[in-house]
Amino acid sequence: MSKDIVCSGIRPTGNLHLGNYFGALKNFVRLQDEYDCYFFIADYHSLTTHPTPGSIYDDARRILVQYLACGLDPERSTIYLQSDLPETVELYLFFNMNAYLGELERVTSFKDKVRQNPNNVNAGLLTYPTLMAADILIHKATKVPVGKDQEQHLEMTRTFAQRFNSMYHAECFPLPQAFNFGNDLVKIPALNGAGKMGKSEGEASTIFLTDEPSVIRKKIMKAKTDLGPTEPNQRKPEEIENLFTLLKVVSTPDTVEHFDTLYNNCQIRSGDLKKQLAEDMVNFTEPFRQRIAELSADEARLRRIMDLGREKAHESARRTIDEVRHIIGYRN
Ligand code: TYM
Repeated sequence: MSKDIVCSGIRPTGNLHLGNYFGALKNFVRLQDEYDCYFFIADYHSLTTHPTPGSIYDDARRILVQYLACGLDPERSTIYLQSDLPETVELYLFFNMNAYLGELERVTSFKDKVRQNPNNVNAGLLTYPTLMAADILIHKATKVPVGKDQEQHLEMTRTFAQRFNSMYHAECFPLPQAFNFGNDLVKIPALNGAGKMGKSEGEASTIFLTDEPSVIRKKIMKAKTDLGPTEPNQRKPEEIENLFTLLKVVSTPDTVEHFDTLYNNCQIRSGDLKKQLAEDMVNFTEPFRQRIAELSADEARLRRIMDLGREKAHESARRTIDEVRHIIGYRN
């Protein structure tokens, strides 16, 4: 029996942060033993918000290093740059022909981006979900490991897949699902008490895998907290709940329980909670920092990995695009 196909990617718009890791990358690593996996670096998508990048190759190379440092294995998975797979762009064009302005304008991430940057509302931003659908469907993937914020994009991917199948009366594409081993999709909160960790909440609210221990400590100690509970077992305000969410991902269950009990007894001191969280984050990220430093130095190996990934991804993409061209009726 053939294995399920997995596909996902991350935009190279900086260093990877704990949101990327716990929302997506951790699962990439787990999935590669069981499935046929395609993991790419979304260096076309980054142009939607960073139209004139000074160093797009270096940005992508940096993410490749961080993928490897987190445990992605180029022998077991296909790891490639999105820009090395032009078949994706052809599929994007076909999907765009059947994607409607109204549905694209309603996408939450589009509306957010318009609000954040009203001077750069470009067509790439509007059609972000069709490019994403093309990324996934070019390999006919069925499982897509992503964080909670990508749920709507996956819904759109299914819409475009289904629409293509029914317009052309073909059973061409599967209907892919966001995947987190049967659990809810993850949302790692920002340190400022609101929103999700990531660039849009600002670097001070985001812990990057590359952050030095002193930087991590400083960011955590500045995280927003309240004055503390005044009644036993009272509900935690959002900023405290967020610190507990972060504690749950980097600390032991005993530690979480310890602080939870202190909170419920009104004995918690937020400074102690933050100190513990900072130390556990420093310990958690330490091995990544070490491996990133080692892997960055070997340019020849990185090039070989990119070449291998391109070759493997190309094989799968070519099959799909040949079939799609045939279904639509183009000359092959
Ligand atoms: P991007 O680059 O914004 O984020 C990459 C992955 O990290 C997850 N993530 C988070 N998860 C939980 N909590 C957070 N705070 C957090 N921040 C980021 C995202 O959910 C995502 O899984 N559109 C994608 C890139 C992409 C893609 C694709 C993904 C392009 N084509 C095809 C899957 C399949 C994006 O912008 O991710």
